[in-house]
Amino acid sequence: MESVIAAEAARRRTFAIISHPDAGKTTLTEKLLLLGGAIHLAGEVKAKGERRRARSDWMAIEQERGISVTTSAMTFEYGGCVLNLLDTPGHEDFSEDTYRTLTAVDSAIMVLDAAKGIESQTRKLFEVCRLRDVPIVTFVNKLDREALDPFALVDEIHDRLALDVAPLLWPIGMGQNFRGCAIRGGRELLLFDPDAGAVPERRVARGSSDLAERVPSEQLRTLDEQMELVDAALPAFDARAYREGHLTPVFFGSALKTFGVRALLDFLVAHAPPPRPQPAAGRSVDPSEPKVTGFVFKVQANMDPRHRDRVAFVRLCSGRFTRGMKLVASRDKKPVSTAAPIFFLARERALAEEAFAGDIVGLPNHGQLRVGDSLSEGEPIRFTGLPDFAPEILKRVRLGDPMRAKHLKKALEDMAEEGVVRVFRPEVGTDWIVGVVGQLQLDVLKTRLAAEYDLPVEFEDAPYLTARWCTAEDRKELERFLLAKKSSIARDRDGEPVYLARNAWDLNRVQEDFPNVRFSATRERH
Ligand code: G4P
Repeated sequence: MESVIAAEAARRRTFAIISHPDAGKTTLTEKLLLLGGAIHLAGEVKAKGERRRARSDWMAIEQERGISVTTSAMTFEYGGCVLNLLDTPGHEDFSEDTYRTLTAVDSAIMVLDAAKGIESQTRKLFEVCRLRDVPIVTFVNKLDREALDPFALVDEIHDRLALDVAPLLWPIGMGQNFRGCAIRGGRELLLFDPDAGAVPERRVARGSSDLAERVPSEQLRTLDEQMELVDAALPAFDARAYREGHLTPVFFGSALKTFGVRALLDFLVAHAPPPRPQPAAGRSVDPSEPKVTGFVFKVQANMDPRHRDRVAFVRLCSGRFTRGMKLVASRDKKPVSTAAPIFFLARERALAEEAFAGDIVGLPNHGQLRVGDSLSEGEPIRFTGLPDFAPEILKRVRLGDPMRAKHLKKALEDMAEEGVVRVFRPEVGTDWIVGVVGQLQLDVLKTRLAAEYDLPVEFEDAPYLTARWCTAEDRKELERFLLAKKSSIARDRDGEPVYLARNAWDLNRVQEDFPNVRFSATRERH
């Protein structure tokens, strides 16, 4: 059995696409699914999004803004592998969901708009990948439009992200003159041939008459010069450096035209890492271990706001999961229902009868499972590396009707458990403080409190810049600090102390005054 488990884990590729809004993530997702046979017509991914929106009230925000707030997972098979694609919301204003999704993947595709290079959001998401050494393959998109010089793009990736860059497909022209790509290290070219059918790619040998017919000699000369420079100045692909996160292979192409997408998929199958051993407190968990383990990286409320049901998205880390098996959550040691586990396919959900490390399984529950929970067959395992992130926006919650303070407490706790917002209760005063990474989370919170709990609230600016979790080796030292700074201390939902800093100066000052207290922007879950 163990060899089956190891073999199944080895053919999993669990990845996310990171990009700035409009770079082409949705289009690329769609084309990956199309080539993977998971959908049959381009447009289904977006259509699905619209149907989903129509079913849910609170997602009206999504509709208004034309964005997708939720993170979903999609599974499909290609080239003998099971690919699990986790969708990270691409909008400007992102939330912790995005960060957390990246804790559940083994690799990422970074999509760049060839006319824009690295944009702010890409950069932010990249940093999260780097924290975890997640290997990244780059897809430079929209070569069918006017674009930046490919060398300038390569330099930008190298300089701004401090990564070695190994182009595997190199463009021949761009915009109107886009003819396809040279395949690095080979004697063949991938011609862009709009007459070649759904995938307008055709392999031709260098020097063939076909090539001379299709590509003007001027462009071929430029290509030869550029390839010489590429080979001299840029490293060849090195699988190990990629897997360690030091080198990014680069594909130039066009998601819209389905050019270069197959090469990207083939790359994922050949080189993207299968599930790695996952760090847990006290040991690391190997994907081939016989017992099932996993962790919850996202909790989503039922699409129907009248029900309190939730779906916990579990990333499996080891073993062979089967429907109906006994699992327990390490936090409360209570059994978890696995009667109706869900697989997320591109077009539908299916009952998950069997799953392995790397797979994402949805477990419907009534609020028992929280983000960061570890699951096992009984071992009190605790996966690490699933931190809480310090909020970047802090607001006071003002309740229209003070008689309903108790309801607000419950509602905020529910929302915090789902990971919609972070909730802090100041030691002094009665107002709740909510913290988010992006403004959009506040809009979601407000809409949901009104729709699901009948609690109209307003947010007021809180005079704080950021929050830091405080710990100290010496308990007394911590208590001395908490007492001295009482008016700036709050408790998170687990009762852990947090310092609310008014500004950077303030934060520096307490760090100097209390050198034995650690102020941390992330907090490991326990
Ligand atoms: P996102 O999920 O990263 O936000 O981007 P999305 O795929 O929605 O793409 C953003 C816009 O860029 C879309 O145009 C899409 O058609 C276009 N696009 C994506 N890939 C390519 C490409 O390879 N070449 C060209 N020329 N365009 C591309 P839109 O007009 O905003 O939306 P739509 O009405 O076409 O859906």
